Amino acid sequence: MLIVGNVVGAAPGIYRYDLGVHELRLALPGDHRAHVAAAALEQDCVRNAAAILAFAAVPQRTTEKYGERGLRYVDIEAGHAAQNVLLQAASLGLGAVPVGAFSDVKLKSALKLRANEEPLYLVPVGRP
Ligand SMILES: Cc1cc2nc3c(=O)[nH]c(=O)nc-3n(C[C@H](O)[C@H](O)[C@H](O)COP(=O)(O)O)c2cc1C
Repeated sequence: MLIVGNVVGAAPGIYRYDLGVHELRLALPGDHRAHVAAAALEQDCVRNAAAILAFAAVPQRTTEKYGERGLRYVDIEAGHAAQNVLLQAASLGLGAVPVGAFSDVKLKSALKLRANEEPLYLVPVGRP
């Protein structure tokens, strides 16, 4: 998901990544950064980021295939994806930081995640 706050060319809002068509779709218009920051211990890097990437998973989708070990694969894959975002941000001269300190319950509510979706990782991005 992408929480857009202050990005030229993109309206503020919470965007969901549509797997089927590889597109971001606006799910909730408006600036939701304060809600996301409130779920993440009021960290300034979250509140002030131009945009925040939020990684979430449907763990059941993976555990159905790999059993309990699937939970490990979900976490590993989120790490890979977040690392790619950090590398891309660095190559664009942007600042980004991985954030794992948040309340699962509050973040789930702030992002309006579905019941079977679990929040894993936040990566706020902005101009340093
Ligand atoms: C899994 C994970 C979770 C993290 N969570 C947070 C966080 O909630 N808040 C934060 O400011 N940094 C967080 N970080 C970032 C690290 O604190 C930071 O990148 C690391 O301390 C390196 O800092 P340095 O650049 O000062 O060496 C997290 C890093 C990882 C790998």
